[in-house]
Amino acid sequence: MTLAKITVIGAGLMGHGIAQVFAQGGHDVRVQDTYQPNLDSLRDRIRGNLRDLGEDVGAADRVHPVADLREAVSGADYVVEAALEDLPLKQKIFAVIEAHAPANAILASNTSVIPITRIMEGLKDRSRALGTHWWNPPFLVPLVEVIQTEWTDASAIDWTMALHRRLGKVAVHVKKDVPGFIGNRLQHALWREAISIVERGIADAETVDTVIKASFGRRIAVLAPLENADLVGTDLTLAIHQTVLPDIENSTAPSPLLEQLVAAGKLGFKSGEGFRAWTLDQQAAVRSGMVAHLREGRRRDLDNAPAQKKEDFDGSAWQRPD
Ligand SMILES: NC(=O)c1ccc[n+]([C@@H]2O[C@H](COP(=O)([O-])OP(=O)(O)OC[C@H]3O[C@@H](n4cnc5c(N)ncnc54)[C@H](O)[C@@H]3O)[C@@H](O)[C@H]2O)c1
Repeated sequence: MTLAKITVIGAGLMGHGIAQVFAQGGHDVRVQDTYQPNLDSLRDRIRGNLRDLGEDVGAADRVHPVADLREAVSGADYVVEAALEDLPLKQKIFAVIEAHAPANAILASNTSVIPITRIMEGLKDRSRALGTHWWNPPFLVPLVEVIQTEWTDASAIDWTMALHRRLGKVAVHVKKDVPGFIGNRLQHALWREAISIVERGIADAETVDTVIKASFGRRIAVLAPLENADLVGTDLTLAIHQTVLPDIENSTAPSPLLEQLVAAGKLGFKSGEGFRAWTLDQQAAVRSGMVAHLREGRRRDLDNAPAQKKEDFDGSAWQRPD
């Protein structure tokens, strides 16, 4: 049995982490980028991540940096693109991929929010094109959203879900190709209201975040909204919505406060101030707190892994149905 040969386009934050996960699953992975320093540092970054996790650094040897896109995709069984979030750039990359990858290679984009339909609309064969939306850091956050367009073959979706589950990821099927898919729609619905609360003077930014972290944020990983609605009762949920929904933010445009911050150069950590001011020490504490929390979750997942259902999938390439 030969494991599917993987190509990752983009060796940045997401690309190197996605490559790491495939390599840990035993796949040979080629990684292509137009920025040579990111190719030069690729294996060392992966080794550093694996060392921090206390996992086998040998997986990094299965990752091969390649500068030329045509060479990177030739003979690939699966290509996942994680270049910049730029629609024309992604369309251009996929035109080259289609011309040089095997006809049965699955083609995926890791875009955060751009509909896959728009990225893939220029391809001649759109039946094997889909989205796979990973979360940062890819080797610590379990979810991968597998996005189907109206053209995607159902067997390409099934294969891609099985491919990621074999790696230990939680793969979910997004049946309609809408902007933001599932996770980012939910996340940004919450962000819109969080910003609105600050804008309306109900509380400052730190208080809004404290409310989330010290209340439903504590339990949301084990009690998500729809099971929570069932737990408290759909009748109570309806009563709450009748009072609250007319008052919460429903704007379809970005908040003026957010636009003002960006216009004033208050870009968050990278400028030292956004909704709040951040010292370098405070920034480091936020980052290390998040990584420690995610690592703890991964440790728990690995401890529970033997009990998880084994997928009937050997990791070999997709076979196009006749
Ligand atoms: N950062 C996140 O949290 C996150 C989460 C999910 C999805 N995404 C999406 O993943 C993609 C990559 O994001 P990132 O955070 O890794 O960005 P990044 O800036 O860290 O990496 C992008 C990489 O693409 C490379 N690149 C630029 N032009 C290229 C080209 N023509 N061909 C090949 N490579 C090229 C850059 O040199 C860089 O190494 C984006 O579409 C982003 O929206 C990001």
